[in-house]
Amino acid sequence: MKNFSYQNPTKIMFGQGQIAGLADALPKNARILMLYGGGSIKKNGVYEQITAALTNHTVVEFSGIPANPEYEILMQAVAVIKEENLDYILAVGGGSVIDGAKFISAAVGYQGDDPWDILAKQEKITAAMPFSVVLTLPATGSEMNAGAVVSRRTTQEKLAFSSPLLFPKSSVLDPSVIQSLPKRQIANGIVDAFTHVLEQYMTYPAGGLLQDRFAESILQTLIEISETVIDNPGDYQAAANFMWSCTMALNGLINRGVPTDWGIHAIGHELTALFDIDHARTLAIIAPRYYEHCFDSKKDKLAQYAERVWQISKGNREEKARQAITKTEQFFNTLGIKTTLSAYTDDYSGSAETIAERFTNRGWLGLGEKQSVSPDDVQAIVKNAYS
Ligand code: NZQ
Ligand code: ZN
Repeated sequence: MKNFSYQNPTKIMFGQGQIAGLADALPKNARILMLYGGGSIKKNGVYEQITAALTNHTVVEFSGIPANPEYEILMQAVAVIKEENLDYILAVGGGSVIDGAKFISAAVGYQGDDPWDILAKQEKITAAMPFSVVLTLPATGSEMNAGAVVSRRTTQEKLAFSSPLLFPKSSVLDPSVIQSLPKRQIANGIVDAFTHVLEQYMTYPAGGLLQDRFAESILQTLIEISETVIDNPGDYQAAANFMWSCTMALNGLINRGVPTDWGIHAIGHELTALFDIDHARTLAIIAPRYYEHCFDSKKDKLAQYAERVWQISKGNREEKARQAITKTEQFFNTLGIKTTLSAYTDDYSGSAETIAERFTNRGWLGLGEKQSVSPDDVQAIVKNAYS
C-alpha cells in the first residue's frame, strides 16, 4: 500500500426531511446565492422545502445551470455574486449544479486575467467561496469531493479541475428526491458511480485489501439495487443505498493508497464535448473497449472482479477476466444504456483521430495507472467503440 493522507471535511446530512436542517447548517448571516438547474426542483417539492428552511436567510436565486455546466453561464453567476455582495453558495441539483458552484466558488476571487485558465492551465486555487449542497441526483459524488468538470460550448471543450478548498461545507442527501428522476437519469447515476469505482479499482493488485473490498462492496450494492431503483424509485431503502453508494464511490476513500486510472473519464469527457452525450453514457461506450484494449495490464484485477462481484467461477484467469468485461457491458445494457458511439450519433467518423490529437496537443501522452495509454491507444479504443 502506498503512503497516503486522508481528510474529508464535508458534513453529510443524510435522510428524509434533512433539508429542514439547512436552517442551522448555513451561517445565519450568510448572503446566499442559491444555484439550480432547469427547474426540476420546482416540480418535486425540493424548492419549497429549501425556501421554508431559509426564511430567515438572505437568498438570491440563480437558475438555468444546464447539464454539463456551461462556463459562460457560470460567469454570469459570478457577476451576480459580485453585484449583490453575496458570500455563500447553495447548490441544489446534481453533479452539474454542484460542479458549477465549485467553479463559481473558485472564480469569484480569482486574481488572474481569464478564469478559464483555472481549467485550461490548471491554475492553483488560492481562495474559494464557501458552499453547501442539496443533492437531487445520486451519481457523481460531487457532493462530497473537491473536483468539478466544466464545459465550454463555443470551443467544444470539457475540462476538470480540483482543489482541497472546494469540498462542500455540508451536503444534504435526502434519498426521496430520486422519485422525480426520469429513468434515464437513474440509469446514468448507476453507471457513473459504477464506473467511478472501476476507475479506482481496475488497475493491478497493489496490496490494498480493504480498498479492494470497499470497491467491490459498492459495485455489488449498485448491482443489487439497480433494478429496484429504476422500476420503483419510491422504494426508500433502495434509494438510500443507491444514494450512499454513489457518494462513497467518489469521496476520496476507496482510492487511498492504491493506483487509479481515470482514462475512461478522460475519453468520455471528449464524447460529451463533441456530441453532447450524457456523461454516464460516454463511460458505458468507452469502458468495455478500454478494458479490452488494456487487457494484459488489467487482467489480474479483472479476474478478481469477475470472481468477487459477478461470482464467475469457471475458466482460467484470462477467461474470467474476459467474461467480466462482457458482464459489465451486459449490465449497462440491461439498464437501457447502449454501449456503442453509433447508437448516439451518426457523426462519429473521425472522432477517434480528433480526440487523440486533442490529447497530444494537451500533452496527455500517457493515461492510466501506468501512464501507458498513449494517444494512439486512445484512437484505437474510440474506433473500437464506434459500432
Ligand atoms: O436542471 P434540472 O431541471 O434540475 O434537471 C436535471 C438535469 O436535466 C435533472 N434532475 C436532477 N435532479 C432531478 C432531476 N430531474 C428530476 N428530479 C430530480 N430530483 O437531471 C438532469 C441531469 O442533471 P446533471 O446534474 O447534469 O446530472 P449528473 O448528476 O449526472 O451530473 C453530470 C455532470 O457531473 C460531472 C459530469 O461530467 C457532468 O458534467 N461529473 C462530476 C464529477 C465530480 N464533480 O466529481 C465526477 C463525474 O465523473 C462527472 O464527470
Ligand atoms: Zn463520472
